[in-house]
Amino acid sequence: MSLTSNIKRVTTHVLQNMKKQGVKISMLTAYDYSTALLIDSAGIDIILVGDSAANVMAGFETTLPMTLDAMIYHASSVVRAVNRAMVVVDLPFGTYQGNSKEALQSAIRIMKETGAHAIKIEGGKEILESVSRILSAGIPVMGHLGLTPQSINKFGTYAVRATSEEEARKLISDALLLEASGIFGLVLEKIPADLGREVAQKLSIPVIGIGAGGKVDGQVLVVHDMLGITTEFSPRFLRRYHNLSEEIQNSVKQYISDVKSGDFPNENEQY
Ligand code: KIV
Repeated sequence: MSLTSNIKRVTTHVLQNMKKQGVKISMLTAYDYSTALLIDSAGIDIILVGDSAANVMAGFETTLPMTLDAMIYHASSVVRAVNRAMVVVDLPFGTYQGNSKEALQSAIRIMKETGAHAIKIEGGKEILESVSRILSAGIPVMGHLGLTPQSINKFGTYAVRATSEEEARKLISDALLLEASGIFGLVLEKIPADLGREVAQKLSIPVIGIGAGGKVDGQVLVVHDMLGITTEFSPRFLRRYHNLSEEIQNSVKQYISDVKSGDFPNENEQY
C-alpha cells in the first residue's frame, strides 16, 4: 500500500504536503476515458492531458497543431473516468502566448467545459502576465520549463536543455518567478539531473521531472511511451514497463488468422 493510497482526491494542497513530507509524486498522461480509468484506479497522483496527444493520438510530428477544442474533447473524456487523481490539462500552442486575456479565456474554457482541476502552460518570464491573469481567476496553474515542445521551431532540436551556465541561470530565474506568481507545481523536461535537484531544492512547490533526474519531487511520462505502445521514441529518460505494441500486434494477427480460418466465432460465440 502506498503512502498516499488513503487519499480520496489529490488536490494542490495534497501535492504540497507530499513535497513537504518527501513523498514522491507520480504523474502520467492520458487522453481518453478507458486509459484514464485504468491509471486512476491503479493509484496515479496526477493525470496530465498533455498536448502530446498531437503526437500519440493524432500522429502529428510536433505539438503545435493541437487545438483548444481537441484538448477539451480529450480532457472531458479523461475527467469522466477519474475519481482520485488531479487532472491537469495543457493549454495548447497559440492559446495563451502574447495575450493574457486570451490565455484566461482559454483556461476558463478548459475548466468550464471539461471539469479538470488545473492547467499547464509552457514558458517562463515571457508568459508571466498570462500566468498571473489565469491565477487571478482562481485556476491552479502548473508551469513547464526546460525542453518546451511548443517552442521546438525556435530551438530546432530535442536535445538536453540548460546545459550552459547562462541557460541554467535563466531556467532557475524563470522557476523562481513562476513560483512567486503563485503556480502550484512545475514540470522540468530534459535537463541535467544536477539542475533538476537544484531547482527542486530552491522551490517550495512540487517539481515534477521528465528527464530531469531522480532528485526532483516526482516523475511524469507519456503513457504510450512507458507502456511500449510507441516504439520509435527512445530517449534515455524513458523506462518502458511493457511491450504493448508487440502484444497488440500478436493479438491482432491471431484474430485475423482466426477469422480467415473460420475458427472465430465458434459454437459458444454465436446466438
Ligand atoms: O504534453 C505532454 O505530454 C507533456 C509531458 C511530456 C510533460 O507536457
